[in-house]
Amino acid sequence: MDKFDAFSEFRMDGHSAIVTGGAQNIGAAIARIYAGAGAKVMIADLNGDKAKETAAEIAQQTGADVRGIGCNVTIQSDIDACVKATVDAFGGISTLVNNVGWGRAYPDPLDVSPEEMIESYKLNTLSAMQMTKACRPYLLEAKNPSITNSGSLVGVLPAFDFIAYSAAKAALNHMMLGLAHYFAKKVRINTVLIGTVITPGYAEAGLDEKTQHALAHPDNLTGRAGRAEDIANAFLWLSSPAGSWVSGQTINVSGGGKRVRLIPE
Ligand SMILES: NC(=O)c1ccc[n+]([C@@H]2O[C@H](COP(=O)([O-])OP(=O)(O)OC[C@H]3O[C@@H](n4cnc5c(N)ncnc54)[C@H](O)[C@@H]3O)[C@@H](O)[C@H]2O)c1
Repeated sequence: MDKFDAFSEFRMDGHSAIVTGGAQNIGAAIARIYAGAGAKVMIADLNGDKAKETAAEIAQQTGADVRGIGCNVTIQSDIDACVKATVDAFGGISTLVNNVGWGRAYPDPLDVSPEEMIESYKLNTLSAMQMTKACRPYLLEAKNPSITNSGSLVGVLPAFDFIAYSAAKAALNHMMLGLAHYFAKKVRINTVLIGTVITPGYAEAGLDEKTQHALAHPDNLTGRAGRAEDIANAFLWLSSPAGSWVSGQTINVSGGGKRVRLIPE
């Protein structure tokens, strides 16, 4: 009798994935875990050189076919070129990860211009819809097809300091829920609500060291900030056959949210 393998349903052999924004941090960890599970992976990133560098590193670590391509997911011709390159290289697309996203803090939410609100929506929400549309014919032909999105905890909690970003991430949740129903019985769609994962991006977003330290020691149920790997583990579950009964969900991977006490400590 074969020994029971608890991880067999988490294997992604025969899958081919596009991971947007996969050149670094959370996206790179997702690309790495997919490749480690046997998938072929295309890293699509604004920074084409870094996408190729990260792809080569992951290919070496995992032995999988991992490639990188320069792609701005807000530009339709870049999306089309990325999808074509992936299909040419791997023969199809089974797995789409809409991971690109970015936001910044504003002292006064009503100082955010309409243009900045629209730019945030284009990057955090609309790009995922454009990628989904471009991948649709290939997903519909694939085995265990799925789309998994990098959402954010601030897409379900009030976050007036990151108003443009949180509003766009909230729209992403709702749009993807609608698309999960549109693709019912054909393509599974889930969104991971990511909590704080400290990356160099936090400093670039204008947060000082004291604030970054506070973010790294949050008052959540696990008492720590997240690692990119914590997020990638959830993506592996959701995209592999192990997640094949999960669709239309927004799943919180954030260290467990804030503690709530009626009586103050
Ligand atoms: N880090 C966190 O704490 C956190 C928390 C909640 C949600 N998230 C979400 O997780 C995702 C990844 O976060 P991260 O911290 O790893 O981000 P990051 O900024 O470190 O990496 C994002 C990557 O996307 C690329 N990119 C940016 N704009 C692009 C575009 N137009 N087209 C293609 N590529 C583009 C960048 O070059 C970069 O490689 C994002 O959607 C983010 O909103 C992150």
